[in-house]
Amino acid sequence: MESLIAKIQQEAASASYVARKKLLDTLRDLQYSIETPEDAMQRVIHMNLHFASIKTAVDLNLFNDILDNSEPSTIEYLAAKHDADPQLLGRILRYLASLGVIKETDRDTFAATPYTSNLGKPEIQAGLYVYFDMCNPTYQEMPHYLAETGYKDPTSFTDGIFQRAHKTDLHTFAWVHGDPARSAHFNHFMKAQRGSQVKCFELYPFDKESEGWPSEKPLFVDVGGGAGYQTAAFKEKFPNLPGRVVLQDLPEPVEDAKSVVPSDVERMVHNFFEPQPIKGAKYYYLRMILHDHTDENSKKILANLVPALEKDSLILLDEMVLPTRHVDEPSTQADLTMMAFHSSMERSEEQWAKLVGAVGLKIKKVVLYAPGFNLSVVACGL
Ligand SMILES: C[S@@+](CC[C@H](N)C(=O)[O-])C[C@H]1O[C@@H](n2cnc3c(N)ncnc32)[C@H](O)[C@@H]1O
Repeated sequence: MESLIAKIQQEAASASYVARKKLLDTLRDLQYSIETPEDAMQRVIHMNLHFASIKTAVDLNLFNDILDNSEPSTIEYLAAKHDADPQLLGRILRYLASLGVIKETDRDTFAATPYTSNLGKPEIQAGLYVYFDMCNPTYQEMPHYLAETGYKDPTSFTDGIFQRAHKTDLHTFAWVHGDPARSAHFNHFMKAQRGSQVKCFELYPFDKESEGWPSEKPLFVDVGGGAGYQTAAFKEKFPNLPGRVVLQDLPEPVEDAKSVVPSDVERMVHNFFEPQPIKGAKYYYLRMILHDHTDENSKKILANLVPALEKDSLILLDEMVLPTRHVDEPSTQADLTMMAFHSSMERSEEQWAKLVGAVGLKIKKVVLYAPGFNLSVVACGL
């Protein structure tokens, strides 16, 4: 058994992202194949408790305390640090140890595991906040909403699953950015989201395509660019490409971008439901924007870009392009999360072609750059 485990770990260490995912799926299926019906029930009914206990530990900074301590941490030590009840802390820590999140090294004493180190990273914790506080209530609401609406694909931006769950009629981003802590977590989470994947800047031929581009013209407009992590990555990869680089978003992310993008990037508040003010750019780059929107709203966003295009301009949709069969877990997860969050969806190439075609655009090419997540650049033009 030990040598079998060592062999699997070795295999994983040198595997590509796709091969490692396949290995994880195989191990998952192996686990399911030896579960009894009661095991399956216990696993499923405690999924929320698993997350809730991790969230409590993150709120208390327990994982970082354990990671920062040069020796295993006792309950007394952790309780004193946070003025918490040792009995309460002990119950939570023992549950986390039983899940393998931390390791019990002695009575009432705990140390880190690889899982602890993964959860100690600030951008990962931002993701936990986003999903615990924003997504989880929507997942909880999903079965009720779908039953009540007769199992129709949700399409409302202001009365979807998210709005019912959070008892609001604001659209999701107005709600998210309406609270500074939520907005900061969301913007920070965007750094971790797909952070393990290669970026499109490694594979899409930006440098070749923009050879000879006039330096006074806009080169790259990051539309809905958030706090600017992609713009910063673009600038890092292509520091010397000629032309203006512009980051656009709503006020809160544009403010947060101050500390993320280099000073020669223009930061601009722009609502993408209004006409694009930067005309004739080489690239209008939209990463994970249209997956947040129904077809109807996506057409409005695209239609607001079309009058700004010149013949060399391209709209680059940095998005998932779903295969038509055997869609993997990260992609199906993302698809249903988009439904719960925005009444929107992830799309196949056929769906992208139909969407962009509706506003008079054509797909010029599709560059798949991160197969593990089906991430591609869909380049569209006139
Ligand atoms: C999923 S995030 C993607 C952010 C960024 N493109 C990235 O990939 O890191 C969607 C972004 O769209 C922005 N957004 C939402 N509604 C917008 C609007 N009406 N105008 C401009 N940006 C908007 C949000 O603030 C958020 O930063």
